[in-house]
Amino acid sequence: VFHTPELIPSGKTPDCAIAIDVLRATSTMATALNAGAEAVQVFSDLNELMRVSESWAPEKRIRAGERGGAKVEGFDFGNSPLDCTPEVVTGRRLFISTTNGTRALTSIQSAETVIAAALVNRQAVVDYLLARRPETVWLVGSGWEGSFSLEDTVCAGAIAHRLQVELGVPLEDLAGNDELISAVSLYSQWQDRLLELLHHATHGKRLLRLHCHEDLKYCSQTDLLNVLPIQREPGVLVKHES
Ligand code: MLT
Repeated sequence: VFHTPELIPSGKTPDCAIAIDVLRATSTMATALNAGAEAVQVFSDLNELMRVSESWAPEKRIRAGERGGAKVEGFDFGNSPLDCTPEVVTGRRLFISTTNGTRALTSIQSAETVIAAALVNRQAVVDYLLARRPETVWLVGSGWEGSFSLEDTVCAGAIAHRLQVELGVPLEDLAGNDELISAVSLYSQWQDRLLELLHHATHGKRLLRLHCHEDLKYCSQTDLLNVLPIQREPGVLVKHES
């Protein structure tokens, strides 16, 4: 487990890298693909997003831009998963740039397998790992501008905890770092009060100030969507068909 993309060891790539941004980028991506989006394309830079998406017909694209929790002016969406309804996203590509989540995905895009995880699709991620058994797995929290976030860490813990249960092994058999043990402890402590935990989180509070209470509620749900966003080419995620 790495709490932020900055903590990823340089010069190494795992078999499988999993980006986590519970509030809200990876929750939004999972929701968009589950609702029928053709793909999700991620950008660190808003201008680059505009440039690349320009060649797509307006009815085939949705531009989502978020900075500091708020929607960027001129974009179709901000970063609310609740905007991603089948009526709006089916058959369209979501071009998205967010403060931290898309940066986390960009920083792991050279791994052999790249996945986007959130609480809402936790079980789909676990099922994939159990089926494929990659030797090295990185769970990378997006954090907030380089610092630790409760919500991404609890999600890393939720994934590891479920793996442990399904494999029937003690935590030490997962051979993770100290961060993994603390993530599982955090999840064990809060698993029945995840919404409350999101309310304590710094970014949760920021989103509440922006009147995004319904987003917190939605993102705190575990195993809601059976969808696995997986990278098909650098920066482009599609729904994994098993
Ligand atoms: C991010 O990428 O930092 C988040 O997804 C921010 C947000 O809640 O929109």
